[in-house]
Amino acid sequence: MSEYALEVKNLSMHYDTLDGNVDAVKNISFNVKSGESFGLVGESGCGKTSVAMTLLQLQPENSVITDGSIKVDGKELIGLSENELRKIRWDSISIVFQGAMNAWNPVIKIGEQIREAMREHNPESSKKDNIDKINELFRMVGLDESISERFPHELSGGMKQRAVIALALSCDPKIIIADEPTTALDVVIQDQILNELKKVQELLGLSLIYISHDIAVIAEMTDKIAVMYAGSIVEIGPTKSVFESPKHSYTRALLDSTPSIHGEKKKLSSLDGEPPSLINEINGCSFSPRCPSPTSGCRDQTVEMGLVQVGEDHFADKCCSECV
Ligand SMILES: Nc1ncnc2c1ncn2[C@@H]1O[C@H](COP(=O)(O)OP(=O)(O)OP(=O)(O)O)[C@@H](O)[C@H]1O
Ligand SMILES: [Mg+2]
Repeated sequence: MSEYALEVKNLSMHYDTLDGNVDAVKNISFNVKSGESFGLVGESGCGKTSVAMTLLQLQPENSVITDGSIKVDGKELIGLSENELRKIRWDSISIVFQGAMNAWNPVIKIGEQIREAMREHNPESSKKDNIDKINELFRMVGLDESISERFPHELSGGMKQRAVIALALSCDPKIIIADEPTTALDVVIQDQILNELKKVQELLGLSLIYISHDIAVIAEMTDKIAVMYAGSIVEIGPTKSVFESPKHSYTRALLDSTPSIHGEKKKLSSLDGEPPSLINEINGCSFSPRCPSPTSGCRDQTVEMGLVQVGEDHFADKCCSECV
C-alpha cells in the first residue's frame, strides 16, 4: 500500500479554445497522506477548479490532459475507462463543489436522492442500512434526521449544503475534495459548516483537499498547502511553515492582504494588477510583473523556473526563493 492516499505527478492540462490553448494546469505535483488535510489556494482563474475536476476526470470536453499521473491509493487513474472511473469517483474520492446545493433534484426528497446514489454504488446494501447510514451522516453534519423526508425547496442554503456533504460521504470515500464549498452562504453558516467538515474529516480519518481563494480559511482547515499562481504551484509546504515563513512573493502578498484574527494587528495591503493570460506562453517568473520587489533576474525571460527546497518539506519557486 502506498503511503499516500493521493499522488499527483507532473500533471498538465489545457483547454482547447478558439483563441488558443488555455494552460490551466501546468506541471503540478503534490501528495496527500491518508487522513491529511491539504489546501489549494490562489486567486480566481489560477486553475484550482481545473485541478479538482482533472483529479476526478470530470473536466469539460474541450480539456486535454497532456501529461502526468494521478494515483489514488497507488492506482493510476489516467487511462481508466469511464466505468472504472465512475466507481472510483464515489467510492474512493468524492467532491463537494460551490454550486452543489443547487444541484438537488427539486421533485425528489433529499433522503431518497442520497439512497439512490448509495444503491447505484452498492446495490447489495439494504434499504434499512442505507437509511441508518444517512441518519448517522446527517447527525455528523448537524442535520436532523427528518430532513430526509423534505424536498430541497423546504431547506435553507446551509442545510442543503450540509446535505451535499452527507451525500459526498455516503459511499465511504477515502478522499473528499471541497471546492469553495461555502462561498454562496453567509459568514456565520460558512463557519459552522467548515467546522463540521473538519470534524467529520478527522472523525472518519479522511483525506481532505480544501480549495479556496481565502488563505485565512485554508490556514484553519489544513495541515499542508499549495499556493497556485497562473496554473502552477509556486509554493507548497506544511501550512504552519508557509504561514510563518512564506518564501514566494505571491504567498506573502496573499497573506498581507488578509486580516489576521489571532496575530498582531497589521496594515493590510492589496495586490495590484491581474494574473497573466493563460493563453500566452509565460517564460521566466509568471509573478514578476506584479512582484513588489522584482530583481532584474526575475524579469529575465530565460530564467529557469521550478520548485526548490526552502525548508523541511517546504518548496518554493526558484526565482522568489533566491530573492528572499
Ligand atoms: N471550459 C473551459 N474552456 C476554456 N477555458 C476555461 C474553461 N474552464 C476554465 N477555463 C479557464 O481556465 C482557467 C482556470 O480556471 P479555473 O476555473 O480552474 O480557476 P479557479 O482557480 O477555480 O478560479 P475561481 O477561484 O474563480 O473558481 C481560467 O483562465 C478559466 O477562464
Ligand atoms: Mg474554481
